[in-house]
Amino acid sequence: MKLFYLLTLLSSILYAKYSTNESCKECHEDIYYEYQTSYHSKTYFNDELHRKVANKASEKKYDCATCHMPAAQNLKELITGKERPSKLYKEQTDAISCIYCHQIAYVKKSHKHNINIIAKQAEGYKPNMYGTLENPDDSDKHAMLNNPIYDKNVCIGCHSHKRNSHDILIFQAIKESQDSKECIKCHMPLVNGAAEKTNKRGRLEHHSHTFSGVHSLDMLQQSIDISAKNSSNTITIVLTNKMPHPLIIQAARLKYLNIQIVRDKKIIWKNFKDSPTEDKQGAFHIEFLNDNNQSVIIPSFATKRGFVNNIKAKEKKILKYTTPNIQQGDTIKIAMYVILAKPNCTKVLNLQDESLLKSTLMKQYSYKVK
Ligand code: HEC
Ligand code: HEC
Ligand code: HEC
Ligand code: HEC
Ligand code: HEC
Repeated sequence: MKLFYLLTLLSSILYAKYSTNESCKECHEDIYYEYQTSYHSKTYFNDELHRKVANKASEKKYDCATCHMPAAQNLKELITGKERPSKLYKEQTDAISCIYCHQIAYVKKSHKHNINIIAKQAEGYKPNMYGTLENPDDSDKHAMLNNPIYDKNVCIGCHSHKRNSHDILIFQAIKESQDSKECIKCHMPLVNGAAEKTNKRGRLEHHSHTFSGVHSLDMLQQSIDISAKNSSNTITIVLTNKMPHPLIIQAARLKYLNIQIVRDKKIIWKNFKDSPTEDKQGAFHIEFLNDNNQSVIIPSFATKRGFVNNIKAKEKKILKYTTPNIQQGDTIKIAMYVILAKPNCTKVLNLQDESLLKSTLMKQYSYKVK
């Protein structure tokens, strides 16, 4: 019966009037403000890193729109390069918009990247929203339907994997078998407050729409565990990725270890001198190459993968460092940092936003040698 309803909806794909993010605020105020702080509200116009990579990838085509500006009415024109992003349209400035996400009817698995299939209503009808609520009521602004994909694969339409036009894997964040339920648990935890103002069901909590991730200090703390021990001239470090996705997903990121032996307040040994990437085992990033084996910063141009150091989902990685003689009373300090746009990326793109360039502490572990 449900399937029949879904198919009827899909067969009547006609453009209905777009409901803006702003229009949801009237009744879902808390969720609206949470969402405004999230990176799903970021797009070409207000995400410097994304815009600059996109412009370098192509001055004509904006095929990034599929995932970064999915609500655009002129998606085809953007992808084929007939039109450029424009601030004049709410469907574009709204980024990964409320109504887009809540109208994903199902996700089609595909080689290059997965595809979201959106259910649209026939003209003149209220928009239909999907969620997991059992027996939802319609409101005067929208109809409501329970759709099991909000438990299963609503996140994997965009987050699973992406290949460029040379068939090079740019990111593989999650495995085929993973479902969205776990993503929602960590990235949309239940927080206080009703989901909508009238709150007829008297619900006390809703799913946070801040979608906190690598930009949140709190989340960074939860990403990995660090522990270590030493012998007279070796430090052995165990890194445990607690996330069900790799430590590095994005090509722009650099995560690195800063290891120090401190004696009498002086640093007597470090794992690198000037640049964290001198340490091949403690610097985590993904490099892309062109046909001449030169490093390329814009993944769209990559024809192969270069140096990759990553920690897989839930993997434990053991690193060993040979050091000068370690003495009783020395302090061993180990810290992991993240840079959102690694230094060579910053140079090529001429990035201005300080927050993209600085090192942010993710996690630290230190102890005194007994
Ligand atoms: C006029 C008020 C109103 C507006 C505007 C409105 N909604 Fe709702 N919405 C409601 C009410 C009331 C419910 C609760 C239905 C229920 O409890 O059965 C609801 C429920 C929902 C749910 C599912 C709820 C759940 O609790 O699981 C989603 C998703 C949703 N709305 C999305 C949106 C989006 C996206 C927009 C903007 C495009 C929007 N709504 C605009 C009143 C509104
Ligand atoms: C298949 C969907 C998909 C396509 C197509 C896509 N992206 Fe993304 N992109 C994502 C997802 C999902 C994220 C968030 C993942 C993450 O942060 O690890 C992301 C994140 C990014 C980021 C990091 C953003 C930040 O704020 O730090 C950049 C930069 C980026 N994309 C650039 C691009 C460019 C440029 C294009 C087009 C050439 C593009 N993407 C096409 C899915 C896609
Ligand atoms: C329509 C495509 C799309 C869908 C569906 C989608 N995302 Fe995203 N998501 C993106 C893109 C694109 C970005 C990167 C935006 C940017 O940084 O400019 C992103 C970023 C994120 C981030 C990174 C935030 C940060 O600050 O580090 C998290 C976490 C996230 N999404 C979680 C989810 C979860 C959980 C779901 C499923 C409920 C989901 N996403 C569904 C496209 C999508
Ligand atoms: C156990 C908790 C947990 C689960 C489950 C989880 N994540 Fe994450 N995720 C995190 C943490 C913590 C971070 C931030 C730290 C980091 O990026 O290193 C993060 C970061 C991210 C980022 C940002 C990466 C970047 O560099 O921009 C994206 C995108 C993301 N997660 C998507 C997902 C998706 C999609 C799922 C579902 C398959 C998921 N996450 C499941 C904990 C989790
Ligand atoms: C990236 C996809 C995505 C975006 C964007 C998004 N939502 Fe949601 N929303 C979800 C998911 C997933 C759930 C949880 C479904 C569940 O388990 O009930 C949810 C739940 C809700 C609920 C029900 C309350 C709850 O706690 O379950 C409402 C209402 C809602 N969203 C409204 C909005 C509004 C309004 C916006 C924009 C301001 C928005 N959503 C943007 C994915 C999204």
